[in-house]
Amino acid sequence: MKKRAFVTGGNSGIGFATARLLKKRGYDVIISGRNYERLQKAADDLGVESVQADISDLDALADMTAPFLEGDGLDVLVNNAAIASFKPLTAHTEDDYKLFFDTNIRGPLELIRLLLPALEKRQGSICNVSSVIVSKGVVNASLYAACKGAMDAFTRSLAREFAPKKVRINAVAPGAIETPMFEKLGFSEEELHVLRCQQEANIPLNRYGRSEEVAAVIVSQLEATYVTGAIWTVDGGVGV
Ligand SMILES: NC(=O)c1ccc[n+]([C@@H]2O[C@H](COP(=O)([O-])OP(=O)(O)OC[C@H]3O[C@@H](n4cnc5c(N)ncnc54)[C@H](OP(=O)(O)O)[C@@H]3O)[C@@H](O)[C@H]2O)c1
Repeated sequence: MKKRAFVTGGNSGIGFATARLLKKRGYDVIISGRNYERLQKAADDLGVESVQADISDLDALADMTAPFLEGDGLDVLVNNAAIASFKPLTAHTEDDYKLFFDTNIRGPLELIRLLLPALEKRQGSICNVSSVIVSKGVVNASLYAACKGAMDAFTRSLAREFAPKKVRINAVAPGAIETPMFEKLGFSEEELHVLRCQQEANIPLNRYGRSEEVAAVIVSQLEATYVTGAIWTVDGGVGV
């Protein structure tokens, strides 16, 4: 039977590269995203199936996961979709808290809850895409970092909870990776250039990473059959 993988946020950046690598490894891949046009284009480029859903909308998640539960299971879930923003704490509103917590914590956790029976059928594996920001203080990143910190915490806890079901769950924590996420932060091109120069000067490997380099770690982790509850950094050495 062909292995089956579901990648959230598979229409862009790290999710797109991961979906491509999984497809190359012979998986049947389904990607999700919010934006219909971007999702369709990515699915066509990759030659995979797609499902449109906003991960912060819990009702949409129930609809999105139903086909996996009816079928004969799921081997791989990559919880990759997320939003980022870099703002001082005092600039955050109550709506920001709700949006970030719903998108970056509640959505991924609810997806795991809904898909657990499908993953159990195939002794599947989950990869949560976290961030090195959890262990590395970054100015103006408190809300985003809090969400990724929660993700690391629930990853470790669920690893023990799911082990008797033979479902493994881990996280990959990227450093600065060249993806469209930076363009979505609301900075000008010049500000992004300055940010990049400052960050690269602080990275031992002296450059931003590429989505493909993170995807390679995600897929290795998914297939590492004696690894659960682990957080693997892929950050050019910045967290050392
Ligand atoms: N790039 C970095 O430097 C970096 C560093 C550390 C960790 N990460 C993590 O890596 C993961 C991927 O990020 P990326 O850099 O590849 O960013 P990206 O290119 O902006 O991709 C983010 C993806 O998430 C999807 N998404 C966002 N909000 C969503 C929602 N509410 N519902 C459904 N899909 C949603 C987007 O879909 P739509 O376009 O359709 O909205 C997009 O496919 C994220 O978890 C991010 O936190 C990235």
